[in-house]
Amino acid sequence: MTVVVSAQGAARWQGGHPWIYRTDVYDEPGDSPGIVTVTNRRGRHLGQALYSPKSEIRLRLLTHGGEPVDAGWWGGRIAAAAARRAGIPATGYRVVHAEGDGLPALIVDRYGAYVVAQLLSAGLERVRDDVIAGIRAALGPEGVLLRNDAPIRRHEGLPLEVVPAFGTVPELVAVEEHGIRYFAAPHTGQKTGAFLDQRENRALVGAHTAEGRALDLFTYHGSFALHLARRAKTVLAVDVSAEALARGAQNAALNGCANITWREANAFDLLRELDRGEETFDTIVLDPPAFAKTKQSVPRARAGYKEINLRAMRILAPGGVLFTCSCSYHVHRGVFGEMLAEAARDSGRRLQLLAQVGAGRDHPEIVTVPETTYLKGALLQAVD
Ligand SMILES: C[S@@+](CC[C@H](N)C(=O)[O-])C[C@H]1O[C@@H](n2cnc3c(N)ncnc32)[C@H](O)[C@@H]1O
Repeated sequence: MTVVVSAQGAARWQGGHPWIYRTDVYDEPGDSPGIVTVTNRRGRHLGQALYSPKSEIRLRLLTHGGEPVDAGWWGGRIAAAAARRAGIPATGYRVVHAEGDGLPALIVDRYGAYVVAQLLSAGLERVRDDVIAGIRAALGPEGVLLRNDAPIRRHEGLPLEVVPAFGTVPELVAVEEHGIRYFAAPHTGQKTGAFLDQRENRALVGAHTAEGRALDLFTYHGSFALHLARRAKTVLAVDVSAEALARGAQNAALNGCANITWREANAFDLLRELDRGEETFDTIVLDPPAFAKTKQSVPRARAGYKEINLRAMRILAPGGVLFTCSCSYHVHRGVFGEMLAEAARDSGRRLQLLAQVGAGRDHPEIVTVPETTYLKGALLQAVD
């Protein structure tokens, strides 16, 4: 199948972005997704792409060449992505970060001997067997699970499902991360079973944790809390998900860690309560879910971020450390920084910026593909 695209569509690829939108596609090849050859109006070959007939993002570039895109091709690309992760001191990390690794719509996460993958476009779903064969050839896993329940698949006209693709992946898989062990839940956990993108930030915060009292808000299954607990005397870990907290307690036991208290609560309510009282914390982590799911919701999301940051700053002990972040793609770094400055001003605290961070190196950000940048964090210290 061949798809003809406009000069504007071709220019996008030349500019380093892999997407071509519906409005830049001439001659729709029908309603069958898959891998297509792409040319300009004069018939010049531009590359091969995943074609999604129901999505606004019609084409996602795979290769500028004309080589066969078969199981061997996928295996080679996935092996190259794995090689770029060499030396990561963890057994749970992302091997393929979709557009960030030049493999659009494909997520491949490694949890020890197992792989959890997501196929997030109709074109990719059509070549599922080749992709799975490529994963097996490149990574040699004992089992591959497809967590194809990401809501984004709806834009592609694809069903939401969790299905085994090869072997058996256990309900819980223990992984190591910079000296900490935790159980990921590939079948039922959030994302593909754990928040792998914060791995390096957890190590960073662990290294800056003050002695004394620590507070981990939006803890999920305690991945930050476990790092905090190595230095802090006590850690209060808070989340709304009872299921995640139960696994957090299992994770604490796995590390022989007895200084974490798990509390099921709404972080907004708890912060309001703490803000009224006298308690302070020497280390605080704020890792909320994405408050802005759309561009339109940014002002409201910004207000939510400001509220939790302002209250956290107020209950930070003198000399204390605050790690705060946003994983909302639509809340850009500038907006996040301005929000933090406003919260600091309103709190009356003097805060030093120790580090500005993004996602770990297993979630590559490509400068010509803004959609690959979503996580932003700041490590702050009270210096008043
Ligand atoms: C980005 S995840 C946190 C990931 C975690 N820090 C880690 O490193 O694994 C956000 C978490 O916030 C929780 N959550 C969402 N809304 C909440 C609220 N209002 N109060 C407390 N927790 C909330 C979710 O259940 C989820 O576990």
